[in-house]
Amino acid sequence: MMPDVEKILIPSEEIQQKVRELGGRITEDYRDKNPLLVCILRGAVIVLGDLMRYIDLPCEIDFMDISSYGTGTSSSGVVRILKDLEENITGRHVLIVEDIIDTGLTLSYLKRSLLARNPASLEIFALLSKPSRRRVEIEVKYLGFEVPDEFVVGYGLDYAGAYRNLPDICVLKPEVFQGDGKR
Ligand code: PRP
Repeated sequence: MMPDVEKILIPSEEIQQKVRELGGRITEDYRDKNPLLVCILRGAVIVLGDLMRYIDLPCEIDFMDISSYGTGTSSSGVVRILKDLEENITGRHVLIVEDIIDTGLTLSYLKRSLLARNPASLEIFALLSKPSRRRVEIEVKYLGFEVPDEFVVGYGLDYAGAYRNLPDICVLKPEVFQGDGKR
């Protein structure tokens, strides 16, 4: 895989340090609240696994799989739920765990849809954000890193299903993705 990588953007140690720090903040903010971490499949699986081990509180996890309508390279903001939560979130303190926010359309739709179920609170954790691509404002309470508009993979993020298992966040060589604009 490494021959396809142009450069390492965020090394594994830096990711761990940041996720540990955010886990510490979540631990303070959610004391006595038994938060439900909602992992958005599939990219956020890796960060969820690390983050939950840095949260020193009773907490639970659940998963949603969503897909956005639209072309391959731009999301329309209309999200189809492929797999819904198992848990009833009414009255729960919910923390959405995402790997990356790009346009913000997915999360803004998801937020509205989860708020309609009347959780006690709803906040967002995102490991990465690409502010230059944002089309809708979205408040992220726990943010890892802002990244430039480059095609990033690794630590859960894929290109065509591959590279999720790279331990670092990396930028792919342009010839690997041949002009496909998303991420
Ligand atoms: C990524 C990411 C968000 C979405 C963000 O998922 O995990 O869900 O794109 O894009 P937006 O801010 O422009 O709406 P992706 O579709 O790559 O699926 P995956 O996590 O299964 O790889």
